[in-house]
Amino acid sequence: MEFSKRMSRFGDEIFAALNQKKVELEAEGRTIYNLSVGTPDFAPAPHIRQALLDAAADPENWKYSLRDLPEMLNAVCSYYQRRFGVTITPDMVASCCGSQEGCGHIGLALCDEGDTVLLPTPCYPVFIAGAKLAGAEPWYYPMHKENGFLPCVADIPEDVARRAKYMIVSLPANPVGSVGSPELYKELVAFAKKYDILIIHDNAYSDIIFDGAVGGSFFNTPGALEVGVEFFSLSKSFNMTGARVSFLVGRPDVVAAFRKLRGQIDFGMYLPIQKAAIAALTGPLEMVKEQCAVYQQRRDALCGGLRSIGWDVPDSHGSMFVWAPIPPQYKNSMDFCLELVEKSGVLCTPGSSFGPLGEGYVRFALTMPCEKIAQAVQAIAASGILKA
Ligand SMILES: Cc1ncc(COP(=O)(O)O)c(C=O)c1O
Repeated sequence: MEFSKRMSRFGDEIFAALNQKKVELEAEGRTIYNLSVGTPDFAPAPHIRQALLDAAADPENWKYSLRDLPEMLNAVCSYYQRRFGVTITPDMVASCCGSQEGCGHIGLALCDEGDTVLLPTPCYPVFIAGAKLAGAEPWYYPMHKENGFLPCVADIPEDVARRAKYMIVSLPANPVGSVGSPELYKELVAFAKKYDILIIHDNAYSDIIFDGAVGGSFFNTPGALEVGVEFFSLSKSFNMTGARVSFLVGRPDVVAAFRKLRGQIDFGMYLPIQKAAIAALTGPLEMVKEQCAVYQQRRDALCGGLRSIGWDVPDSHGSMFVWAPIPPQYKNSMDFCLELVEKSGVLCTPGSSFGPLGEGYVRFALTMPCEKIAQAVQAIAASGILKA
């Protein structure tokens, strides 16, 4: 069968070789330190699990939900007020099955074939996939070391800015671990206003931010509600990755278009998950803060540990990731990952999977307790891979 031309926009699964290697090493009985996947190893809070269990016990809750429950939309609004001090109304909120799905689909509501969109590089891969699905042409703005791995709108050429439809910004950033500042967000709002560009802020890591910084919302910036929308996911803050619950929040016209698009392909979020989301959003938030402190300890264990064995890896400032330059004797991040797992059992993700500027780096996820991270660091030291 001849599949759609659209499918040719997507490359082959590049992780196959790495996964195969992991399976082989496990079969040999080798210890694998899996620091490649960004799924939290923490459990969701008991009150969230209980809300889902209670709702699932009622057969009525197994029907198509067909809509976002008003209680859930209100819970998002009150959470935004409580957590970020931002006032929004229910018409400014729509659910999706995770920000991954939302970012994958939103371009279909915003773009026509050939439209230009601004994406960070390196970036979370679905930003690219979503643009390609919509037939849009990505223009990659660099997040390089020299600029602290942050966006710099001054470097975007005028003609590109004039034709761009939307710009995705995601801070704290996966994979590079950089965080935004009020000044940066102000620049972004001014840029968006000047060129009539929609900013899509993917705020997956507002609760994983280090060294005393406090994560916020894009809407803490004056004027942001006029030019932007924000994906707000429960996955990482509340350890609910498998439940697939996130919201698009912000400009009502964009939220309405997104809801209309999703209404063509979805019958609504499973009601017990909506109830669990309400429990998360209205419940205590101490656990979220405690968890952030643990991520910081892990960041210290990994970055500090790697530096102590001679690998100059800078501290991540936020997100659950560490972005490490590969040793100079390696030229290719996939080759390095394969050799690293073979020699030390430590599995990480090649930077090349995060877009054009990802090559030359690897990404570690902070998804293991400090003791295990320390063991992984020792395994890297013992492997001799860092020696030129
Ligand atoms: C930047 C970023 N956005 C979105 C997601 C996915 O979030 P969700 O589980 O809500 O789909 C991730 C997951 O790793 C991420 O790193």
